[in-house]
Amino acid sequence: MNRILVIGGTGTVGRQVVSRLAATGARVRAMARNPGAARLPPQVEVVRGDLTLPETLDGCLDGIDAVFLVWTAPATAVAPALERITKHARRIVFLSAPLKTPHPLFQQPNPLRAMVEHIERLIETSGLQWTFLRPGMFAANALNWWAPQIRAGDVMRWPYLAAPTTPIDERDIAAVAVRALYEDGHDGAGYVLTGPQSLGQFEQVSAIGRVIGRSLRIEEISPDEAQRELLRIGPLVAVNMLLNAWAAAIGQPAHVTSTVAAITGAPAKTFLDWATDNAAEFRA
Ligand SMILES: NC(=O)c1ccc[n+]([C@@H]2O[C@H](COP(=O)([O-])OP(=O)(O)OC[C@H]3O[C@@H](n4cnc5c(N)ncnc54)[C@H](OP(=O)(O)O)[C@@H]3O)[C@@H](O)[C@H]2O)c1
Repeated sequence: MNRILVIGGTGTVGRQVVSRLAATGARVRAMARNPGAARLPPQVEVVRGDLTLPETLDGCLDGIDAVFLVWTAPATAVAPALERITKHARRIVFLSAPLKTPHPLFQQPNPLRAMVEHIERLIETSGLQWTFLRPGMFAANALNWWAPQIRAGDVMRWPYLAAPTTPIDERDIAAVAVRALYEDGHDGAGYVLTGPQSLGQFEQVSAIGRVIGRSLRIEEISPDEAQRELLRIGPLVAVNMLLNAWAAAIGQPAHVTSTVAAITGAPAKTFLDWATDNAAEFRA
């Protein structure tokens, strides 16, 4: 069986990829900057590596056939890291975004998008077998965006409540990733992955309220207020990216695909499924 390195194995998606691979008895290695804090299953080999320090990558990549890559490091580190990966592996599955989907939610220019396009170009010309996973908005964003407010009280303040998205469960992204890492037939594919239904942000917050048995007062705030208040969820560049995407998405249904079901054989999980399984995170 092939040996797989998961880069980003301690994060939202990578952790699920590692757990699924470990559960199948696969030989899986996870890279982390601080292996002692990784909290991964005991059968997983956790190695220290940092994408911004290319000399740390050779040891992590030694004996590796396939890499699952999550990139949240600075753009300046992309080329040297991909050079090391190309030297060792023959297959890469990259967690990208729906850059080529002609829906306004995914078509707003921003610096993060430019970096991901750059990564894709380098991978496409690397000689590696590659697959790009292109998930829409993660259901798990709710943990960072909404859980602190909901734990603190019944008032939820948020912009663009009518903006629809198709939140995808990180377990579904991981299920597709594992197929692409192991099976043949995914070379050169870009899989646009979404949840099963278009849901406005208001409906998503309401669903969480129902799951935890509380009636939340959901208040719309202006984009200007949001630009200030949402700095707690990320840097200004990320906040502006979200605000522009939601503004552009108002007034039409979100993009829905059936790719998760087509590749894994199981239907994509609903947002209600996700909220139910993560309800404890929203309880005070
Ligand atoms: N959120 C969304 O709605 C959405 C939608 C589409 C695409 N995406 C894409 O998904 C990706 C984020 O995935 P995620 O949420 O699973 O990530 P995450 O939870 O933020 O985790 C980031 C991972 O990257 C690792 N990492 C960060 N800096 C590193 C470095 N310098 N060297 C090595 N590892 C490093 C972290 O590991 P350690 O800290 O343990 O080292 C961690 O495992 C982004 O590329 C984003 O563009 C997100």
